[in-house]
Amino acid sequence: MKHWRIEDVAWDRFDPAAVDPDIVPLVKAAAMVERNGRDYAQYLGNVFRDDPDFRQASDYWASEEVQHGDALGKWAMLADPSWNYAAAFERYRKGYTVKVDADASIRGSLTGELIARCMVETGTSSYYSALAEATDEPVLKHVCKLVAADEYRHFKLFYDHMRRYLARENIGVLSRLRIALGRIGESEDDELAYAYHCGNEPDSLAYDHGRCIASYMAGAMAFYRYRHIQRGTGMILKAVGLPPQGRVSNVAAKLAWRLMQWRHHRFEQQLAA
Ligand SMILES: [Fe+2]
Ligand SMILES: [Fe+2]
Repeated sequence: MKHWRIEDVAWDRFDPAAVDPDIVPLVKAAAMVERNGRDYAQYLGNVFRDDPDFRQASDYWASEEVQHGDALGKWAMLADPSWNYAAAFERYRKGYTVKVDADASIRGSLTGELIARCMVETGTSSYYSALAEATDEPVLKHVCKLVAADEYRHFKLFYDHMRRYLARENIGVLSRLRIALGRIGESEDDELAYAYHCGNEPDSLAYDHGRCIASYMAGAMAFYRYRHIQRGTGMILKAVGLPPQGRVSNVAAKLAWRLMQWRHHRFEQQLAA
């Protein structure tokens, strides 16, 4: 059973006057990436072919990710009635595909695969928490809170399975940290950037990775507050086997915050140019 259903959201409370126009393009892009979740489940199903329990959990996980996409897509169509979620998603699928037919994890180990998944869930959990706090529109606030709670549960799901594999594969902390940071860096690849393009730019404008990732990140990074980064840093440290609280965590959170502000500034400069 899902923790919530799209029908549970009070869509009639939607308040067009409270929509922040800067949030709408980000929600459109996020909806498409979320909706693509089933491909990742197919990839995970291949990588974890000998683990039926995990495969079942990951199929269920994907159904929740698809629901995130559908809820965010529905909200974006209320905020912009001229926008068509289904058509935008179809365009996205034509140009962006996840490689699903892998025999082994692209992270080098099953522990590594699950650490990478933990990073994605850390990112989404922090992001939707930040969006929920930033928006005054009541329906988006509610949807983002529901999604953020799911993302945190997803982190726990992958974390618990990761601990099981770690006991077998015994990957060192530094290797785990390298995998985690590698996956975080990939958030600037095509997945989000191309979703931004398909959700917000006309067919007549050719896709440009630099422009699209700058548009997405310049908008998205503006919504974070220090507490979101602090919490996310704790989750990253926990996933790689370092203490999520204490001195290391405080220093890491401060560094992560400064790094994000620097990146944010760079993306804004890139757009202005
Ligand atoms: Fe999600
Ligand atoms: Fe998730």
